[in-house]
Amino acid sequence: VDQQHIRNFSIIAHIDHGKTTLSDRLLEMTGTISERERREQLLDAMDLERERGITIKSKAVRMHYTARDGQTYQFNLIDTPGHVDFGFEVGRALAAGEGAILVVDASQGIEAQTLANVYLALENDLTIIPVLNKIDLPGADPDHVAMEIEQVLGLPAEDVLRVSAKQGVGIDALLEAIVERIPPPHGQHDRPLRALIFDSHYDPYKGVIAYVRIVDGALPVGARLRMLGTGAEADALEVGAFRPQMTPLDLLDTGEVGYVATGLKQIGECQVGDTITLASMPAEIALPGYRPAKPMVFAGLYPVDTNAYTDLRDALEKLKLNDAALSFVPEKSAALGFGFRCGFLGLLHMEIVRERLEREYGLDLLITAPSVEYQVLLSNGDVITVDNPADMPDAGRIESIEEPIMLITIITPTRYIGSIMELVTGKRGVFESMEHLDPQRVALKYKIPLSEIVVDFYDQLKSRTQGYASLDYTLAGYQPADLVKLDILVNGQPVDALSLIVHRDFAYAQGRALVERLRKLIPRQMFEVPIQAAIGSKVIARETIRAMRKDVLAKCYGGDVTRKRKLLEKQKEGKKRMKMVGSVEIPQEAFMAVLSLN
Ligand code: GTP
Repeated sequence: VDQQHIRNFSIIAHIDHGKTTLSDRLLEMTGTISERERREQLLDAMDLERERGITIKSKAVRMHYTARDGQTYQFNLIDTPGHVDFGFEVGRALAAGEGAILVVDASQGIEAQTLANVYLALENDLTIIPVLNKIDLPGADPDHVAMEIEQVLGLPAEDVLRVSAKQGVGIDALLEAIVERIPPPHGQHDRPLRALIFDSHYDPYKGVIAYVRIVDGALPVGARLRMLGTGAEADALEVGAFRPQMTPLDLLDTGEVGYVATGLKQIGECQVGDTITLASMPAEIALPGYRPAKPMVFAGLYPVDTNAYTDLRDALEKLKLNDAALSFVPEKSAALGFGFRCGFLGLLHMEIVRERLEREYGLDLLITAPSVEYQVLLSNGDVITVDNPADMPDAGRIESIEEPIMLITIITPTRYIGSIMELVTGKRGVFESMEHLDPQRVALKYKIPLSEIVVDFYDQLKSRTQGYASLDYTLAGYQPADLVKLDILVNGQPVDALSLIVHRDFAYAQGRALVERLRKLIPRQMFEVPIQAAIGSKVIARETIRAMRKDVLAKCYGGDVTRKRKLLEKQKEGKKRMKMVGSVEIPQEAFMAVLSLN
């Protein structure tokens, strides 16, 4: 295809504003898929994604569109992940195109991720086509939202298209706008190959499949390839495009988007953001953007059944093939035995990994409370990073501790400002700025420690604003803070997996709340069990679980076997997620107790 007839673009939107529905509509209107296939929601292939209604992995689909000018254009729609945890992947996917369709729900208006996505699009110099979706809804106010887009984003209101992705209204005009407004790719055909990897996945037969945008040169099948970032080399076993199934081609040419099968066994060798070139004629300068994925949230994963340790390791290794952001190292806990310290991009990422381990690999897991990564300056001048509270050195050896700080943006109706201020300041947030989007809505910016928002910040924000506020965050750096390690003792024994790093000012309140919570969560034993919170050797809170009075089975009247079996089974069920710590059984919920404080 003539480079002038290629259009590469993404669709960006706040969650639920209709990105998937609109993508499917475009595929259908260009004859790439049938109506029936559309209904099967093609772009969200993974079950988990469908259930959660979020797109985790970006994909690229090639369409052919014959425009009103009579010419046939090659459209490459590059799908972007929709959640803040995956911000880096969004940026890379956007960098693979020249344009972005900005979808805004006409009944909701601009949300936090709308803004975040627009900033990412502008950073990548993309042409933005603003689109109001869901104009069929009775609550839609397209004129108002178009004005909001003009005022807040500086995109002229008359350029805003109006569609209903669900009913297929306004899609023709959008297809024409893609041709007219988005520029063709401007790469150099006669330069050495430079292909941007904007996504990848592991295939058991073809190895790592990289999703690429050819910036300069061409990528023929059979070529020897080199990754400029990692130095890994591989053969292009297959190249092609998604139509939407993988369709092999002889080559990917300048400006095109498609895939290359590399035969590589590890996704880490072929990471998002890296540049592919030809080993025989390598490009010298990599494309901007290579950055190894950096985990932000850490937690211990332990098999409930100690014998399942190797199964857990094998499962993690398999998941890692497809998830460069997942990290894990073996860890030993005095309380829980052998497990892994895992690093995640965020809480959602953690949830997804945990669910996949349980569902796809049939593992029963205990997961400890999530922690962030601290930079600790020791008295001897050394700096260490600590991502497990149990590894925090004694206070006497520490000079200072720095913690990760996030810059958060909250968009909310003005009536909730007071309630949000209260929530944020209670979590050590510091006000940065407030900007009115319109008379009823503001964008609030704060700096806040990551440790304070990994826990239940998002849920609290949603419940305090009846779901109206939206949130986005980025790492703003590290800052020193007066932090202490809070230890929990069960039956006089410290349980390392329950340790927490907390701010000194909140240590007493949190210690008290935690032991109260644990008293309710840990079932009664045959003996009395004290639960204590301590900082160093100083106990700051204590509760007692009283001893069990009766055997459970005593409740069964004689001879009723079924009833007895049921009771025993129920007990077994309840035990599933229990771990013997010393002589006390501790349930999974206890390790996550910190999540339900406040
Ligand atoms: P994520 O994948 O979670 O980011 O969501 P998304 O932005 O891809 O939104 P999706 O396409 O899944 O649509 C969200 C909801 O809005 C679904 O229930 C759609 O059926 C609905 N929806 C999408 N477009 C329209 C529209 O034009 N009109 C109406 N009434 N509903 C729509």
